[in-house]
Amino acid sequence: MRAKDIRAKAGVAPITMLTAYDAPTAELVDAAGVDMVLVGDSVGNLRLGHDSTLPVTVDEIASLTAAVARSTQNAFVLADMPFLSYGADEADAIENCGRMVKEAGADGVKLESGHHTVDLTRRLTRLGIPVQAHLGLTPQRENETGLFRQGTDEASAREIIDLAREHEDAGAFSLVLEHVPANLGAAVTEAIDIPTIGIGAGPDCDGQVLTVDEVIGLSETTAPFSKKWGDVRGEMQQAIEGYKQDVESGAFPAEEHSHYQDELDDVY
Ligand code: KIV
Repeated sequence: MRAKDIRAKAGVAPITMLTAYDAPTAELVDAAGVDMVLVGDSVGNLRLGHDSTLPVTVDEIASLTAAVARSTQNAFVLADMPFLSYGADEADAIENCGRMVKEAGADGVKLESGHHTVDLTRRLTRLGIPVQAHLGLTPQRENETGLFRQGTDEASAREIIDLAREHEDAGAFSLVLEHVPANLGAAVTEAIDIPTIGIGAGPDCDGQVLTVDEVIGLSETTAPFSKKWGDVRGEMQQAIEGYKQDVESGAFPAEEHSHYQDELDDVY
C-alpha cells in the first residue's frame, strides 16, 4: 500500500487504521487487511507505563516501528513522531523523520499538526516522506489544551478547517481528526480532498483509527468514542493465573512437557 493508494480510497471505500507497537500485533493487523498501521506515541501511556505521550523518544518509536515494519506485508506503516522531535528545528525534524523511513522501514510519518507544521509537511513531502497530518485533539499539547474535545466553538472549528486545507496544500496525504464534534468531522471531510481519518470525529470521515489496545480489550479503560471487540486483558489474566496455580500445585510441567535422556541415567 502506498500513500497514493490511501488517497485514492477517499470517498470510495472506508479506510481502516489501527495502532501496533510490536511484531505479533502488526502481523495480525496486517493479515486482517487493515489499510494503515500506526506506531503511535500512545505507546507511552498504553505500554510504557507513562501517564502521557510526552516522554516517548525518537529511539523508542524507531525501534518499535522497525519491529512493526518487519512484520507487515501490505499495510502502510506510519511512525508517529514524538513530542519535540519536530517543530523546533527543521534540520533536526528532517533527520528524525528520515530515520523512520531509512532506518526503521516506515512508509510515512504522522505529525501532530498546527501552524508550525505546514512548512515542514511541504518540505518532507518534497523530500519523498509522506506525511499524515493530525488536527483536533493533539495529545502532545495536553499541558496547554487538556485532553478535551476540540473545535467546539466557531473560531476553533474554523481554525481546524483552515489548517486542514493548509496541510492538504502542503502535500499531506491524509489527515487524522481526533475528538472533534461529528459535524466538524463532516465539514472537514467536505472541505478537503485528502482522506480524513477520524478518532472520535463521527461517522462521516473517510476512515477510522483506534488504538489496538482498546479494540482488543487490553487497556484497562476505553475512551467514550472507542469500542472494545475483545477481552485480551481478561484472557491474559486467566492464563497467567492458570500458570501460577499449575506450577504451585505441581500440575505443570507434566510428563508431556518433560524429556528424559536415557544415557544420563548412569550419570546420576
Ligand atoms: O498515538 C496514537 O495512537 C494516535 C492515534 C490515536 C491517532 O495518535
